[in-house]
Amino acid sequence: MGEDFKIAVIPGDGIGPEVVREALGVLEKIAVTSGHRFTIKELLAGGCAIDATGRPLPPETVQACRESDAVLLGAVGGEKWDGLPGDQRPEMALLGLRGQLGLYANLRPAFLYQQLKEACPLKPEIIGDQIDLMVVRELTGGIYFGPRGRSKQDSREQAFDTEIYSEGEVERIARIAFDIARQRNSKVTSVDKANILESSRLWREVVIRVSQDFPEVKLNHLYVDNAAMQMVRDPKQFDVIVTSNLFGDILSDEAGMITGSIGMLPSASLGEGNFGLYEPVHGSAPDLAGKDQANPLATILSVAMMLRYSFNLSAEAAAIKQAVERVLAAGYRTGDIMSPGKTLVGTEQIGKLVTSFI
Ligand code: IPM
Ligand code: MG
Repeated sequence: MGEDFKIAVIPGDGIGPEVVREALGVLEKIAVTSGHRFTIKELLAGGCAIDATGRPLPPETVQACRESDAVLLGAVGGEKWDGLPGDQRPEMALLGLRGQLGLYANLRPAFLYQQLKEACPLKPEIIGDQIDLMVVRELTGGIYFGPRGRSKQDSREQAFDTEIYSEGEVERIARIAFDIARQRNSKVTSVDKANILESSRLWREVVIRVSQDFPEVKLNHLYVDNAAMQMVRDPKQFDVIVTSNLFGDILSDEAGMITGSIGMLPSASLGEGNFGLYEPVHGSAPDLAGKDQANPLATILSVAMMLRYSFNLSAEAAAIKQAVERVLAAGYRTGDIMSPGKTLVGTEQIGKLVTSFI
């Protein structure tokens, strides 16, 4: 007997709707091959929600997410809304969803497909056999959510944001990182700025304490500036990287780039239990919107993460990843991962190809 899964779908802005469409096509195929049912509810968030309701994250959207088993999100934002004050911008929808749904653990795998080695900007001798790392980013704390403000000093403006972490926040993200490392290559690199920041010193102490519960996992520490350098000097040294909200934002883009294209990178945001929000790491790319040029593979791979982490369907998740590999092996590429001799295809065609290879 198949199970019933409820999915809240937030297509969002820019290329969001078109990449989500392809990902849902893949999911429909999985429904057929697996016998499970996926019930979809489309919701507004981001710029389109501002246009329709005056706010980036309508309360009904949060409520509907809460009533679902998982959320699939395309992307939010665009020039059109760039002039709005900080707290009314489309990006607030992301922060609101993360905060209100308690999604404190952001998993961003960076995996270089063998077929995309030419798209990687690093030299072959640096790439070696494989780049396969996982950034575990704390997502509901730190400077993104700390006290902030503006004031006037001698009639000149000043502004501040606060990096703040509690023991409990560090502990739970560290546990997730060690747990994931245990299922991978048993190595955790904790990234901080403990030579300068007090919050990083606490971070490091807590990570060391948590590591004692995972004796089979190796732990090392890097300062964030060094970590950024090591990522391009010798990415093979990394298995799981655990870090704060802000450092994770930066390092996950860097990790993404060394896998060839940010258009290939899925992500999962998890809280307690099986509930999670899944989205491509890339943004809304308004310049590509509506042109059938966007790469939907990151969103398709996000659906694979949803199947694995929220629905416990790892065979189906693996089937999607394999289908993506076969499409790449067959030489099909969207513009962002195109290289000489390959076949350039659009958003819709590459989505259909993945579906047909499942
Ligand atoms: C990300 C994005 C977001 C972040 C922005 C759009 C709020 O860069 O998901 O990495 O900084 O978290
Ligand atoms: Mg980012």
